[in-house]
Amino acid sequence: MHKFVIEGGRPLHGSVRPSGNKNEALPALCACLLSDEPVTLRRMPRIGDVLTMLEILQGIGVRVEWTDLETVVLDASKANSWHPNYALCVKVRASIMLLGPLLARFGQVELAPPGGDVIGARRIDTHWEGIVALGGILSLDRVITGRMPKIVGTDFYLDEPSVTATENLVMLATRAEGTTTLHNAASEPHVVGICRLLNSMGAKITGIGTNRLQIEGVTSLKGADHTIGADFMEVGSFLCLGAIAKGKITVSDVNVEDMRYPLKVLGRLGINPEIGENSLTIDGTRPLVMRKDIGDRIASIYSGPWPAFPTDLMSVAIVGATQAAGTLIFFEKMFEGRMFFTDNLMRMGANIVLCDPHRIVVTGPSQLFCANMSSPDVRAGMALVMAALIALGKSEIHNIYQIERGYQDIDKKLETLGAAIRRVTV
Ligand code: EPU
Repeated sequence: MHKFVIEGGRPLHGSVRPSGNKNEALPALCACLLSDEPVTLRRMPRIGDVLTMLEILQGIGVRVEWTDLETVVLDASKANSWHPNYALCVKVRASIMLLGPLLARFGQVELAPPGGDVIGARRIDTHWEGIVALGGILSLDRVITGRMPKIVGTDFYLDEPSVTATENLVMLATRAEGTTTLHNAASEPHVVGICRLLNSMGAKITGIGTNRLQIEGVTSLKGADHTIGADFMEVGSFLCLGAIAKGKITVSDVNVEDMRYPLKVLGRLGINPEIGENSLTIDGTRPLVMRKDIGDRIASIYSGPWPAFPTDLMSVAIVGATQAAGTLIFFEKMFEGRMFFTDNLMRMGANIVLCDPHRIVVTGPSQLFCANMSSPDVRAGMALVMAALIALGKSEIHNIYQIERGYQDIDKKLETLGAAIRRVTV
């Protein structure tokens, strides 16, 4: 086990390239089960969740080969099992996205249900109802057991625009007899990325990027060569960090279009980067001032399904707000456990009122002081690293495997920006 030891207060300067998007990478790995030909995935982040998913796939006969540091080739032609390792599956919630591809490939599945999550209860009803609508027969005991004698195209309205449910259903529907229409589908950049990967494998998906996806079933899918998009959560994290770290940071190799709405919202914190063709530069030497709503009203930031502000950027935006002059309300609509990490920020000196599990009020700016903390989840963990980087004194962050589930080489990237961060074996 490792911890990070961070000496705060150093200005951060330079350029950083984000890794590929975790939430596109994970379903992309699952999608390889839909083809008997090799699928090459580029800009694959080497993060904890990806490595676990690769181990799961290898366990059911998928050949995995890294051909360079960020390219992995998967060959599922010899996949031989529809019951992936239980203990590994409960480690990554994204294993739920094996449900669709395994049913499509084998007509049956036995899969560990995804466990609870520290950020909140996460229902799988949308996955379930959609699979049943496509002809599946599912039951849940210790494991999810499923049979799919035939995949039949259907017209289905998702009860909420769940990201992983949309991806599961799209993957399954690519192999259906007939056409499937998914209404109220999720449209996050990673959902767009998965649809594009599937189309390059020979699927026929239209409406990509909207909340109404149409999938004309095909009898087989071929191999493909696909590049994962830049992780816009990592981009957002570096922008929030750059805004408070008293230097100037450029985030390069970014899809600027993905950041349009998040940037609109970060503007309420005074975070307004310079926008290049595929880079964003943030000057952290300027004081941050929160923008009020018209009529001198306190503004709010609330999360929601895309294109609303992503829930996964809430934690890092909150750290940004502790350094901006003004008061802001954060309303986390999706996850009831996401705000609890803010007790760490309060201990460090932030002026935050936790109103209820979903809402906090932040008044800034506050000087933060070092603390010893434990990372509760991937996004809160990154937020605590950011807080430690600007705090006075030496902080320790434990449980960093949570951060490394989603952020590749975060300590090395921060070191190149000038941070004093050390990984220490506990
Ligand atoms: N929800 C709502 N309203 C909605 C949609 C969802 O309240 O309109 C609630 C649901 O009750 C659900 C929860 O939010 O239980 C999560 O929603 P969703 O099903 O979309 O989440 P997910 O598919 O399980 C993916 C990401 C999460 C990200 C969410 C939301 C992957 C592998 N995971 O999870 O990523 O927070 O979408 O965007 O794609 C992360 O990367 O740190 C992470 C947790």
